[in-house]
Amino acid sequence: MYRIAVIPGDGTGPEVVREGLKVLGRAAERFGIRFDFKQFDFGGARYLRTGETLSEAELEELKGFRAIYLGAIGHPEVKPGILEPGILLKLRFALDQYINLRPVKLYPNVETPLAGKKPQDIDFVIVRENTEDLYIGAGGFLKKGTPDEVAVQELIATRKGVERCIRYAFELARRRDKARKLTLCAKTNVLTYAHDLWMRTFTEVAREYPDIKTDYAHVDAITMWMVKNPEWFDVIVTTNMFGDIITDLGAMIQGGMGVAAGGNINPQGVSMFEPIGGSAPKYTGKNVINPIAAIMATQMMLDFLAEEKAAAAVEAAVVKTLARMKSMSAGQMGFSTSEVGDLVAAGI
Ligand code: IPM
Ligand code: MN
Repeated sequence: MYRIAVIPGDGTGPEVVREGLKVLGRAAERFGIRFDFKQFDFGGARYLRTGETLSEAELEELKGFRAIYLGAIGHPEVKPGILEPGILLKLRFALDQYINLRPVKLYPNVETPLAGKKPQDIDFVIVRENTEDLYIGAGGFLKKGTPDEVAVQELIATRKGVERCIRYAFELARRRDKARKLTLCAKTNVLTYAHDLWMRTFTEVAREYPDIKTDYAHVDAITMWMVKNPEWFDVIVTTNMFGDIITDLGAMIQGGMGVAAGGNINPQGVSMFEPIGGSAPKYTGKNVINPIAAIMATQMMLDFLAEEKAAAAVEAAVVKTLARMKSMSAGQMGFSTSEVGDLVAAGI
């Protein structure tokens, strides 16, 4: 029995989570898995009502679950910088979800903006460090609001944090057993301290993985190669900030936010799975948003729970469903949100 915390969140979050739970429910039935779901109402709506994002007691409660399934956090009436650190980043940090795993895989019948690229050309995984870097919220202002204002935002890289991320990426390259290649993406020519640490650690850990080829790309260059030669990549490991940016590029070349899923992983703890797109306020409540990304997040969760057969069945059912969809864009799928969920569930 897996106890799963469900955070539908804001905007279209609840609509896509409903479809993900439909698919999980069907997979559970089919493969004899038992889930116990508990819903939590964190998000912009609750914040506007109560002024609270996520309490310490709730955080403690979440530590008792096997995994978390998240829809989307973000509300047009809440200014940036409250819900993100208050809920999403707080969960990632407090639960020490030190890997943000973002597969970039183009499925058949899904349109990519890259001319001439086929599914066999776009199939790699980005391993984004998820607990350090510019995301730690350290820094401050001096003389704020004056012409002499100084703002400092600190970037932290620790040997332990960098090493555990790089190690995870090497293990993944081995487990995928595809090209057995790991590319480090950083900016060693400018970030001469933090990324020197990344490079040294990468080189040292690589000695333990003689079966894995290694490569390096500066972050600016990798945005060129991801567009021009995505087939070069198997696993990419990168920092939190760079990973944030290049995974949005990755999402676009795999067909957009409607299909891109991610996992915030603590291999020894509570992991959290989510569609990587936002709350899409303008489509809220219309039953037109694409739930495939949220459904693929359940596939990643099943895989993480070592329910490989169920995970494979979800992926196969998604592939069948994608083949029938007209587009990955909201309102243009040829089906409603709930119909897409029905198709995937039936496919299992
Ligand atoms: C993501 C998002 C978050 C991030 C935001 C909402 C804080 O963009 O999951 O990629 O920057 O990590
Ligand atoms: Mn992002």
